[in-house]
Amino acid sequence: MNRLDGKVAVITGGTSGMGEASAKRFAEAGASVVIAGRSEQSGKAVEAEIRENGGDAAYIHLDVSKENEVEGVIRNVIEKYRKIDILFNNAGIFPVTSSLEQMETTVWDEIMDINSTGTFLMTKYAMPYLEESRGVILNNASIAGMHSYSSGKAYAYSASKAAVIQFTRMIAKVYGEKVRANCICPGVIDTPIFINRDLTRYHDDIPMHRAGTAEEVAKAANFLVSDDAGYINGAVLTIDGGMSI
Ligand SMILES: NC(=O)c1ccc[n+]([C@@H]2O[C@H](COP(=O)([O-])OP(=O)(O)OC[C@H]3O[C@@H](n4cnc5c(N)ncnc54)[C@H](OP(=O)(O)O)[C@@H]3O)[C@@H](O)[C@H]2O)c1
Repeated sequence: MNRLDGKVAVITGGTSGMGEASAKRFAEAGASVVIAGRSEQSGKAVEAEIRENGGDAAYIHLDVSKENEVEGVIRNVIEKYRKIDILFNNAGIFPVTSSLEQMETTVWDEIMDINSTGTFLMTKYAMPYLEESRGVILNNASIAGMHSYSSGKAYAYSASKAAVIQFTRMIAKVYGEKVRANCICPGVIDTPIFINRDLTRYHDDIPMHRAGTAEEVAKAANFLVSDDAGYINGAVLTIDGGMSI
């Protein structure tokens, strides 16, 4: 385990899947974890489990696509913890997609607002505090943002994740002296984002012949946000069992 003692970590979408697994992992590694998301019930449950295991966690309501909420969450975190060391922009949606011809602009906008704009807004409002703490950003993109074959006809999702990858690189380049920024690109990971959880349909496309787990992603995230990854900046790390080869 890569230790995070004394660090304050904000995880968007900490209420489910990879964000939840990362919240638990970061707390186990010694961080105080802020679990940000829309579902109060799930967020409180993750908070309670971490506390029962001796960790420090707090759920806070957040819709990453709403600028006033993002601003308020960062303000609340600073009031409570006085600093932010780690920002994990993990929140995202992957709605069932329609054909290009049938896609409504509202659907395109919602995907962009949450997956891309949410990452931008959180980064914008947290950056002054991350610069102060010489902190670290980790963004959750997807191999769908790298390869056209990865997500079928998920036009908006793929474009939203490509934006996250390039945004990460820009941040790493401009702010690298004080803030490290990296990006993970998961492949098929078994989380509630899939309505149909029978992921065997992907196995033939994955050299390891299985989906990944949220915990496997959390371990990689733990490394990237820790001091053990101290010289890693601007990296785009696939976590996909080799699917994108
Ligand atoms: N699973 C995969 O195979 C896969 C592959 C590549 C990339 N990813 C990416 O990995 C990230 C995590 O997804 P997951 O697979 O762990 O799925 P998940 O279990 O569905 O988790 C998604 C999280 O995003 C949060 N979220 C969604 N919209 C939000 C909003 N407007 N404001 C705040 N939080 C919001 C959800 O929380 P609330 O509902 O509580 O708001 C939830 O905690 C996403 O960005 C996803 O695109 C997933």
